[in-house]
Amino acid sequence: MAHSSLPVRLAPSLLSADFGDLEGAIRAAEEGGADALHLDVMDGHFVPNISFGPALVRDVRRRTRLPLDIHLMVEEPARFLGAFSQAGGDVLAFHVEARGDPAALAHQVRDLGKRPGLAIRPDTPFSRVEALLPEFDEIIVMTVHPGFSGQAFLPHVLPKLREVREALDRVGRSVDLSVDGGVTLETGPLAAGAGANFFVCGNSVFANGAVPQENLRRLRQAIQGRVP
Ligand code: DX5
Ligand code: ZN
Repeated sequence: MAHSSLPVRLAPSLLSADFGDLEGAIRAAEEGGADALHLDVMDGHFVPNISFGPALVRDVRRRTRLPLDIHLMVEEPARFLGAFSQAGGDVLAFHVEARGDPAALAHQVRDLGKRPGLAIRPDTPFSRVEALLPEFDEIIVMTVHPGFSGQAFLPHVLPKLREVREALDRVGRSVDLSVDGGVTLETGPLAAGAGANFFVCGNSVFANGAVPQENLRRLRQAIQGRVP
């Protein structure tokens, strides 16, 4: 079994929060012990939805000290890395399926003084990312088709998650392995068992009818129970 020895980290996704009260969502995430905030940027081309841009990231940045992970679901990451860096992103993650050379884009992110992340769609094979892993500080394996929160976790991605974890262990650097999409009390532990140590959670924190702080605590408990 491919367990990660890295600490379990949770990143609530603001996409599932009430955009009219993002400040409340940020406070709830902090109080619930979040390790970072996940911000989903969508351009209406790479994915069939539009979310928000650098101005919102800037305003979130002013309201928290939590690291901001920017998940760029955009066709041309090169055009936007500067703006999201300046807005206060800490990790700038783009998709392997987007336009541009991922290694060159990773260097562009490092030149901005930020940490590069690489995201991978559910049906993109491990072979597409294997050689790129040493360039990145975070790998985001998507367990839903990107574009919307609140979708069901795709269990067929679990073997790929395990492959990425094993490859990262061979690289020998501590790289966060993130799982993004449909993470719940049931699926979070499954992803942990396959080697994920970083858990993006949208609806299971902000849109399940219970208090976000409590949701986060319960998720952490469930996931930590699965990691030796
Ligand atoms: C989907 C986004 C996810 C999403 C997660 O395209 O990348 O980060 O907000 O939301 P849940 O946890 O509800 O699937
Ligand atoms: Zn995301």
